[in-house]
Amino acid sequence: EKGTYPHYMLKEIDEQPLVMRKIVQQYQNEQGELTIDSAILDAMNEADRIYIIAAGTSYHAGLVGKQFIEKMAHIPVEVHVSSEFSYNMPLLSKNPLFVFISQSGETADSRGVLVHVKDLGYKALTITNVPGSTLSREADYTLLLHAGPEIAVASTKAYTAQMAVLSILAYVTAQSKGLMVGMDLVKELGIIANSMEVLCDDKEEMEAIAREYLSTTRNCFFIGRALDFYVGLEGALKLKEISYIQAEGFAGGELKHGTIALIEDGTPIIALATQEHVNLSIRGNVKEVVARGANPCIISMKGLETNEDRYVLPVVNDMLTPLISVIPLQLISYYAALHRDCDVDKPRNLAKSVTVE
Ligand code: F6R
Repeated sequence: EKGTYPHYMLKEIDEQPLVMRKIVQQYQNEQGELTIDSAILDAMNEADRIYIIAAGTSYHAGLVGKQFIEKMAHIPVEVHVSSEFSYNMPLLSKNPLFVFISQSGETADSRGVLVHVKDLGYKALTITNVPGSTLSREADYTLLLHAGPEIAVASTKAYTAQMAVLSILAYVTAQSKGLMVGMDLVKELGIIANSMEVLCDDKEEMEAIAREYLSTTRNCFFIGRALDFYVGLEGALKLKEISYIQAEGFAGGELKHGTIALIEDGTPIIALATQEHVNLSIRGNVKEVVARGANPCIISMKGLETNEDRYVLPVVNDMLTPLISVIPLQLISYYAALHRDCDVDKPRNLAKSVTVE
């Protein structure tokens, strides 16, 4: 039930802090430590390479998950779009583990890959929001998102839940190998939940940004470097699917290799600047587009901000920034769609789960 909310999407955006707390609870043992089923940890530890398979928003969560697993657990990870995997099949490592990420657990493109790799005799783990879903039943192992039903077609809370569960998987795997991670993930996810709350309480500001940048534009670019690049891809997808504004997420450094030709007077550019090690270079990329007339909306993180930034996010652990930087993008898309009289919860041409290949 959407209760007093005008749309499921807005309700689901607002649920994200609660979902974070729920996930931490669900993955904690009696001592308050994060744990994962030991069979899954064994599979992680036996794998010489992990292949993440997903579509759409879940693919974008997978890109972030790759960084978590490689940085914390030191296992190489490849991320593949499920519909392409069989056609551009990579040369597999000796002991691969397949990780399927799917909110619905019913996406046919992903299931096609699961059936194929099970036939080849490989192990599979599904990370899904739906217990008993096809991808969960057909895989060897399941990790649940605990996000509660996601009704709006545009995925929001499932995306942040996927990243949170992937961070727990990476963290607990690292601990099981005796690797030092250098953070207390329970505490960091608590900070994430609190920061999400602050952002969800700032809807007027997000609505103002949507009005200022997106009410009449026909296109929009999202740029970022490192983790911010991946969040930009998700921001662009959200905006496209519900507001029908043509949007593209781009790596800050890649723009000048062609795409910058599309920048015109007033073209909105939403730039994310949450990563200290690339802060100077992304700001250089913003200058390049401003010099061509773009209208920049810089979303940075406290401590990295300058006085030209449109919005400043609260500080969170720099590996976990995607969990909060996506929230303004979700809200901006929501308001852009509203301002343009679009059907937010049921955008044209889309279904909640895509059960055809
Ligand atoms: C975007 C969206 C889609 C899904 C994609 C995968 O908001 O909803 O891109 O993320 O179809 O769906 P699942 O995660 O159910 O496999």
